[in-house]
Amino acid sequence: MKVFVTGGAGFIGSAFVRLLLGSSRPDAKRPSLVVNFDKLTYAGNLENLAPVADDARYRFVHGDICDAALVNQAIAETEPDVIVNFAAESHVDRSILSPAPVFETNLRGTFTLLEAARLHKTPRFLHVSTDEVYGSIPVPDDADEDYPLRASSPYSASKAGSDLLALSYFVTYGMPVMVTRASNNYGPYQFPEKLIPLMISNAMEDQPLPIYGDGMQVRDWLYVDDHCRAILAVIERGRAGEIYNVGGSRSLPNLEVVERILDTVGKPHSLMQTVKDRPGHDRRYALSTEKLLHETGWQAEMPFEAGLRTTIDWYRANAAWTARVKSGEYQSYYQRNYANRAV
Ligand code: NAD
Ligand code: DAU
Repeated sequence: MKVFVTGGAGFIGSAFVRLLLGSSRPDAKRPSLVVNFDKLTYAGNLENLAPVADDARYRFVHGDICDAALVNQAIAETEPDVIVNFAAESHVDRSILSPAPVFETNLRGTFTLLEAARLHKTPRFLHVSTDEVYGSIPVPDDADEDYPLRASSPYSASKAGSDLLALSYFVTYGMPVMVTRASNNYGPYQFPEKLIPLMISNAMEDQPLPIYGDGMQVRDWLYVDDHCRAILAVIERGRAGEIYNVGGSRSLPNLEVVERILDTVGKPHSLMQTVKDRPGHDRRYALSTEKLLHETGWQAEMPFEAGLRTTIDWYRANAAWTARVKSGEYQSYYQRNYANRAV
């Protein structure tokens, strides 16, 4: 199998490439070629791929998924059996501060890839999406794949739009498109703008931990490797034209997550600091993952406690990685997002 991955230098994409090329998979299931097509935005980091960089089956192409000529050339050269689209502007707070790049990459970029896949008759196209497209989910619901789309942020609206666009290529052109919608991922190599790595990093540096609003917003936590195994399960056993939710079945309020981080890192709860809430902040995400289990047999394997410990251990052992990604642009983003947020 030849796999064309976009956004493979980011958090989840790089975990997926490492899984594809790693030794944990049986020989028969190992790909003959993995092409990673990535623009290397602030979130893209080739260091995340150091474990596979010398693998003869791995190739990196530096490019923007909005660049139709380059995308077409790369797909024509690769002749992939499957395209897996991870590339996105993925952070809600950044999408609120600057929506333009979000719409460019998440909508125009997905469109460009779909057109290239149509032209080259790529046998499978998996579009990686998010539970945020369902918006805030009231108790006691768990959103299944037919739940209404009620995106709240420019990020989630762009993902909802790209999901619909991808699925329209199945309906209109008969293209074998599938969409996965995952809950909040965590694990090693996550950029420290997202809740868990940001709180670990700030705790390790004795910096304040900014809690939006009352901190009682609920997220369902999914270990990144479980997500990547789900994507493989959908590629191998999913049906074209279908959507599959991927959840960790571990819903927790943010405050509880942050308290666990402080306890594990060994820092006082007094480091938590309530700050002004995120505009349009979704209160609760909760997914039904029955369909994925029923059709592919996939289930999340990593318990949250063990996953969080593994993640904290990784950040402790890789302080130099965090220091590098936090230098430069991160500092100005942090200022823009967190200054003037005191309550
Ligand atoms: P990330 O921000 O860590 O990585 C995004 C990657 O995409 C980076 O390597 C970046 O350089 C690349 N990229 C951005 N714009 C590009 C462009 N125009 N052309 C080519 N490459 C580009 O994101 P992530 O957290 O790994 O998320 C990956 C995908 O999974 C996204 O589509 C996101 O919407 C989805 N998702 C994320 C989560 C989560 O909790 N992080 C949960 C569900 C779904
Ligand atoms: O649900 C899937 C989505 O999860 C993905 O589609 C997104 O790509 C990913 O970024 C994530 O979105 P969230 O907005 O849920 O994740 P984030 O880590 O930004 O925030 C998680 C919760 O923590 C949310 O309720 C906001 C809160 N939060 C976040 C930050 C960064 C804080 O209280 N303080 C913070 O500083």
